[in-house]
Amino acid sequence: MFVFVFIMSKCLLLAALLKQVSSKVEFYSRFSPSPLSIKQFLDFGRENACEKTSYMFLRKELAVRLANTMREVNLLPDNLLCQPSVKLVQKWYMQSFLELLEYENRAAEDPRNLNDFLDVLIDIRNRHNDVVPTMAQGVIEYKEQFGFDPFISSNIQYFLDRFYTSRISFRMLINQHTLLFGNNTNPAHPKHIGSIDPACNMAEVVTDAYETAKMLCEQYYERAPELHIEEFNAKAPNKPIQVVYVPSHLFHMLFELFKNSMRATVELYANSSEDLPPVQALVTLGKEDLSIKISDRGGGVPLRKIDRLFNYMYSTAPSPSLKPSRAAPLAGFGYGLPISRLYARYFQGDLVLYSMEGVGTDAVIYLKALSSESFERLPVFNKSAWRHYQTGPEADDWSSPSREPRDASTYKANS
Ligand SMILES: Nc1ncnc2c1ncn2[C@@H]1O[C@H](COP(=O)(O)OP(=O)(O)OP(=O)(O)O)[C@@H](O)[C@H]1O
Ligand SMILES: [Mg+2]
Repeated sequence: MFVFVFIMSKCLLLAALLKQVSSKVEFYSRFSPSPLSIKQFLDFGRENACEKTSYMFLRKELAVRLANTMREVNLLPDNLLCQPSVKLVQKWYMQSFLELLEYENRAAEDPRNLNDFLDVLIDIRNRHNDVVPTMAQGVIEYKEQFGFDPFISSNIQYFLDRFYTSRISFRMLINQHTLLFGNNTNPAHPKHIGSIDPACNMAEVVTDAYETAKMLCEQYYERAPELHIEEFNAKAPNKPIQVVYVPSHLFHMLFELFKNSMRATVELYANSSEDLPPVQALVTLGKEDLSIKISDRGGGVPLRKIDRLFNYMYSTAPSPSLKPSRAAPLAGFGYGLPISRLYARYFQGDLVLYSMEGVGTDAVIYLKALSSESFERLPVFNKSAWRHYQTGPEADDWSSPSREPRDASTYKANS
């Protein structure tokens, strides 16, 4: 009898706790995230950054961004939500949200709270390290069991774009706080403000990303195309191009583009003893845009397939193992392009591919030239997002070439 009462009271307590947490998720999801510009990140970090202010902003803002995402995850199809990998990701989100709630009412004046908060942010960041491959695994598991119809596929694409953008954003916030107020300031880059380089030299990042991709390419294919790099500074002619940016984001995008260009080039010339055509990088700066074009002669992609390359469910490479292997492959999940485009769009830029089949591909990264215009682009969980998951694809209002031609009598009646 006693055991029964004990178990019952535990169950009731757990149910009450769950109810309380979900009402907190609902509460925080009613706020829209507050986007910051690179300039705001920079100004805050430069002018005697105040840890208390950052603490008070982050304990709410991170909870808001997590809650917005957690509500949106629940709109995914049930069969996807019950995949073990997706459940694991949800568990991580819940745990991180609960850890943030601990600080809801803890005074900023007590330095112990500030220190503990810093540790919690580091724990949260580490916990979410593998969100991208784990979620990818969940999608693969689902696809293997249930297949995809176009409606589900477009919803998953829509969701993952928003989900990964939100993840990029809360990592950005966490990195700024931990780099500014943690003990491990970066000795290699003393002039950086957190993860931001106030004078990010574009050609240097391009070269770094190329060299890293080249190493991988040579390991895998035993040769790699050369790099030709050119700059055109329309704002300050003949000066090196430098802007305020997050070098790690830029590196990520360029590295992915170089890997793709190298793979395409080397595979096109696989049976040829000719020299590989080089990969060209053109960096330009205008009043509004900073653009970086990576061009290859790797044979290109037909126009019909270009949109598909940004789909999370598409790659022409054989699927790599989820377990880390010693020789990292040059292509794998098919996440290189879609995630790179999210990085570009996160600060109001974009990533576009122009390809000429039979010849090669130009990939252009567009960034804002001014840090005051580089505002975070963040997903908001609201009615229109909700509606997006409910409405099926509309009937096509353009003719489809695969349809049977109408018979002659209909033509007559219409003419
Ligand atoms: N420069 C290019 N030339 C020819 N094909 C390309 C080029 N860039 C991308 N592609 C095609 O687009 C596909 C998707 O590219 P993406 O980088 O997103 O994924 P991936 O390279 O297959 O895997 P990973 O996730 O490792 O990057 C590639 O598999 C390739 O077929
Ligand atoms: Mg790739």
